[in-house]
Amino acid sequence: MTVITTIEDLRVLAKKRVPRMFYDYADSGSWTESTYRANSDDFQKIKLRQRVAVNMENRSTATQMVGQATKMPVCIAPVGLTGMQSADGEIKAAKAAEKFGIPFTLSTMSICSIEDIAQNTTAPFWFQLYMMRDREAMARMIERCKVAQCSALVLTLDLQVIGQRHKDLKNGLTAPPKPTIANLINLMTKPRWCLGMAGTKRHSFGNLVGHVKAVTNMKSLASWTNEQFDPTLSWADVAWVKKQWGGKLILKGIMDVEDARLAVQSGADAIVVSNHGGRQLDGAPSSIEALPAIVAAVGSQIEVWMDGGIRSGQDVLKAWALGARGTMIGRAMVYGLGAMGEEGVLKALQIIHKELDITMAFCGHTNIQNVDQGILLPGTFPTA
Ligand code: GLV
Repeated sequence: MTVITTIEDLRVLAKKRVPRMFYDYADSGSWTESTYRANSDDFQKIKLRQRVAVNMENRSTATQMVGQATKMPVCIAPVGLTGMQSADGEIKAAKAAEKFGIPFTLSTMSICSIEDIAQNTTAPFWFQLYMMRDREAMARMIERCKVAQCSALVLTLDLQVIGQRHKDLKNGLTAPPKPTIANLINLMTKPRWCLGMAGTKRHSFGNLVGHVKAVTNMKSLASWTNEQFDPTLSWADVAWVKKQWGGKLILKGIMDVEDARLAVQSGADAIVVSNHGGRQLDGAPSSIEALPAIVAAVGSQIEVWMDGGIRSGQDVLKAWALGARGTMIGRAMVYGLGAMGEEGVLKALQIIHKELDITMAFCGHTNIQNVDQGILLPGTFPTA
């Protein structure tokens, strides 16, 4: 077996081991996928300044995200259907995050439930909420987060209607997969995955089935979101969620300076500059391109984070240098999980941390708290 040294190695292995519809679900963007590609391509354009003869001993990448200590400015992003990449995937990813020392975020659209994560981990985790039409169900879900002692709520603002990802429609994405001939043939080539799934009861949307009215059969993800998600979501609803929850609130999906200002006014604790991994508005700029203007406008008033396109620790360092006080990784985690389960997620985190730490040293720093735009080569990075 090849020695795993990069996130790309994990992606290649995950593609071999995960049924096509779930691999494709994670590894795609909407429409032409131009924003999806730009998210990672734009990181590559940013060049670093090498510095030498600087004492590199005793380095630290530690920081805090909404007051929670983390070994590096990275947390696990909420990713739908993570438990379809590998059996009990959300539990495995949460355990890996806890072992490594970074926060884990559970998606509303996860396979394992809020209670599953609470029972199988000890570190507090975060929960990502989608606003659905059924407000009673929303209030109940927020209540479940309180019972599970979640330490922050991540409200996603950019998916009230779902962007079209062609592969999901072509593959007929459902969880669990329908027993069609095409699916069965594909599953026969994924024995490791099938064995894992045979060993767990968690095969569908654990937060929703039995909790939200009309969720007995999920049909397709796109048709379900179209029926259940609330297209009228407004800043008044953000205030409603904040009041119901009463704890740390993170708003995800901010790409515009005006929206960033409104987010500050809402009293949120952090915002995530995000185009949903290029899965929603194709044609939007990459997240790293959108970041500097938002940091310039509101960075002194609220914690600004970003996600989208992070495939290495160098990307994390570049985002930090441009003012992001935290990042979220989705696909890098999914690839590790699909490749090697919990061990693969841990591997992904170790790879990212090592790249971050060593790059910081090459740029002449020992403490990430002292790293700023000065590590970037002028003219190669986006500005406000
Ligand atoms: C849901 O969050 C998705 O992007 O599929």
